[in-house]
Amino acid sequence: MRIDVFTLVPHAFAWLTEQRPIAAVLGSELELRLFNYRDTTPLRAGQVDDEPYGGGAGMVLRVDVVAAALEAVYGGPPSHPVVALSPQGRPLTQAVVEELAAEPELTLLSARFEGFDARIVERLATDAISIGPYVLSNGDLPAMVVLDAVARRLPGALAEGSGELESFSEELGGGLEYPHYTRPPDFHGWTVPDVLLSGDHAKIEAWRREHVR
Ligand SMILES: C[S@@+](CC[C@H](N)C(=O)[O-])C[C@H]1O[C@@H](n2cnc3c(N)ncnc32)[C@H](O)[C@@H]1O
Repeated sequence: MRIDVFTLVPHAFAWLTEQRPIAAVLGSELELRLFNYRDTTPLRAGQVDDEPYGGGAGMVLRVDVVAAALEAVYGGPPSHPVVALSPQGRPLTQAVVEELAAEPELTLLSARFEGFDARIVERLATDAISIGPYVLSNGDLPAMVVLDAVARRLPGALAEGSGELESFSEELGGGLEYPHYTRPPDFHGWTVPDVLLSGDHAKIEAWRREHVR
């Protein structure tokens, strides 16, 4: 899968690319390209945003700047999904993550300040996604959230089997995963359920199914 991120701070993604699961799939299952709107802006002095028509605080990411960035990379409107990260987008859920992870190519658009000129979302993007009902300062953390969630669904991102029985997965009926425990079995009287120490796999499996919420 190839994911292209358009941002004003490509360097902010460096940390994420060093971490699993992304580090595990980069260069094999995942090709990640980072583009800076400033590198292709048709405006002088690297300008990318402008004052909102009608007045008001903040700056708005310009449609001609985003169009030029997409044109430079794809030579025209791409045929794959172009997702604007926006609080007004459809909510990101595990089902949406699975949908995105099934795409061979995906483009993520990040904005800042007051956000996108509406024509970017209406005309240049094919989808808009919100990572939750709160406002962040820019779309870079949301893009990283999407990247991380999608990357862990790619083959080889996780240890064998660990991505199947997770919260929100089909295998758990969309529910929340059962609790996990590790050593020590007794810490200040806080004990681990006996069944998990029993070695009886059928009983352990039954206990886990019972504790899916
Ligand atoms: C400060 S926000 C703009 C908020 C916008 N003026 C509003 O009231 O909805 C700047 C940018 O951050 C990103 N962003 C902020 N919160 C987000 C969220 N919950 N989900 C996705 N992107 C978000 C978007 O790219 C947005 O355009």
